[in-house]
Amino acid sequence: MSIKTVGIVGAGSMGTGIANAFILNGYHVVLHDIKEHFLENSLNRMTQFMTKSIERGKLTETKMEEALSLLKTTTNLQDFENVDLVVEAVLEDINLKKSVFAELDRIVREDVILATNTSSMSITEISFATQRPDHVAGFHFFNPAQLMKLIEIVYGLETSDETINRLKKVAESLNKIPVVVKKDSPGFVVNRILMPFYIEATKVLEEDIASKEDIDKAIKYGLNHPMGPFELQDYAGVDISFHVMEYLQKEYSDNRFSPPLLLKTMMRAGRFGRKTGAGFYKYEK
Ligand code: 3HC
Repeated sequence: MSIKTVGIVGAGSMGTGIANAFILNGYHVVLHDIKEHFLENSLNRMTQFMTKSIERGKLTETKMEEALSLLKTTTNLQDFENVDLVVEAVLEDINLKKSVFAELDRIVREDVILATNTSSMSITEISFATQRPDHVAGFHFFNPAQLMKLIEIVYGLETSDETINRLKKVAESLNKIPVVVKKDSPGFVVNRILMPFYIEATKVLEEDIASKEDIDKAIKYGLNHPMGPFELQDYAGVDISFHVMEYLQKEYSDNRFSPPLLLKTMMRAGRFGRKTGAGFYKYEK
């Protein structure tokens, strides 16, 4: 059965970017969230992104209209009855994800793959909330999902090779680069490597070895990264990486992943980065 319509659960920044990537590549999308105004915000963010693409000469008005005509939004998961693939992008709360998967399992056809955009959590645990663990896999996009090329495709204990191969084809049809994560392991590849990088950068700052601006510059110009570690944490959300660190520390029982004190203090002060107006840096709201 070919994949024409994709159901996306969760219209936060990842769900929005993922839905936008699918409609820009000709897929019909049904985007779900629990409140109408989350869906309205999501649609505004897609329009803003595509308007910027037009300004940059990367998209036409016609293509944007075409893309938007492929999008339907809903607050009722029952509207996923006829979708051919589901990508879940709700909050990183394992119990919430499990209950969403159990519900999806009852609604969508038996042959449909249920994929999760979790950035680090156990695919096996999520898959066993359903009666089809062979049809469940990780499908992890990076922020901003419209632009970032990588998708980690992750096996759970019972995920079939066919599920992984079908998801690889979907990733390629979105002009993305898939990487297969053979074993279900916390943080997969990128976040397993990224968290110690953030932690070490924060320790260098805590030890006052260099200013945050100079640490960012060092990584940007010394390693050719588009953003330094503090700019990137502010961009992707300090709270997001903080929770990933805590999860990896717990799952691996390894203090290498333990969040530094500065991050804990920032969490207590609500300094989550750009979205709250302050993180490592200050932003205009
Ligand atoms: N439409 C189309 N293309 C766009 C665009 C838009 N709206 N906005 C930017 N671009 C393109 C630009 O045209 C340019 O492409 P080119 O090199 O082919 O010309 C490229 O994106 C970069 O653009 P700019 O240099 O102008 O810089 P921007 O500030 O616009 O780029 C960025 C923003 C793409 C976010 C860039 O800064 C970047 O790549 N940052 C790093 C992002 C990153 O590492 N994300 C991963 C986060 S970790 C994560 O997600 C894991 C999670 O699980 C925790």
